[in-house]
Amino acid sequence: MSTEPPLSAGIDPNRPSAARIYDSFLGGTHNFAADRAVAQRALELVPELPKIMRANRAFLRRAVRFAADAGIRQFLDLGSGIPTEGNVHEVAADILPDARVVYVDLEPTAVLHARDILAGVPRTVAVRGDLQHPSAILDDPQLREILDFDEPICVLMIAVLHFVPSSPALTAALRRYRDQVAPGSYLVVSHATGSAHPDALARIAELYNRTGTPLVLRDTDGLAAVFDGWDLLDPGIVYGPRWHPDPADPEVDDPAAYITLAGVAVKS
Ligand SMILES: C[S@@+](CC[C@H](N)C(=O)[O-])C[C@H]1O[C@@H](n2cnc3c(N)ncnc32)[C@H](O)[C@@H]1O
Repeated sequence: MSTEPPLSAGIDPNRPSAARIYDSFLGGTHNFAADRAVAQRALELVPELPKIMRANRAFLRRAVRFAADAGIRQFLDLGSGIPTEGNVHEVAADILPDARVVYVDLEPTAVLHARDILAGVPRTVAVRGDLQHPSAILDDPQLREILDFDEPICVLMIAVLHFVPSSPALTAALRRYRDQVAPGSYLVVSHATGSAHPDALARIAELYNRTGTPLVLRDTDGLAAVFDGWDLLDPGIVYGPRWHPDPADPEVDDPAAYITLAGVAVKS
């Protein structure tokens, strides 16, 4: 019998959580007053945040389609959040009905909701884990049942690394993911950057830091370090809306205003 405490034991409604603040921005219902208070304050600083976060989800969908079009059938979504519409498994399954998806998040709320949504969906699982501790994630028996490390995997780190300060542990973790996956695997990353609204972003970072959820802004060089050992695919690291926009999407005048850098790379 498992001696692990139930996931629900790790939920503290009085402590704002990155997953639930994000859910609140996206108009979801899986959040508490403490999360909404942080979201509200952040909105006062940058009122376009919901639009920015929807654009981030749109990048996720384009990148998953891109990987599935390239024939990648397996997805490891690190920092997957509270699942909202257009999840990785839904997008991938449109192209590859037998796609396999593992969702990983640090937050018990996110994992619990993911498990609800995935109940009865074959070839998917949600596990709790900190991406800075890759061994615990990669050796998880449930993950091992879904993912085959001899075949390419698309590793996603979408809007998560800005909650993870740079450290030797992060560098080692990123290297471990790269070493673990087979050649032909993809790494998909999006990340907040302060370039367009440096003052407002610095204040939002301060706000998150005070709530115990760090927010680390990185620039293009900082993000390039995340892709170390991978080969960036065209067009490299760009503002999110500029990464393979859908031809049907309206032209975005000021992509830097979306304060998100994005890129996709392959392991050779
Ligand atoms: C802004 S949400 C992004 C969710 C989703 N990837 C997306 O882009 O829609 C960030 C998520 O990362 C999770 N997270 C933060 N630090 C993490 C870590 N060290 N390991 C795993 N997940 C983490 C948070 O709990 C949250 O659910």
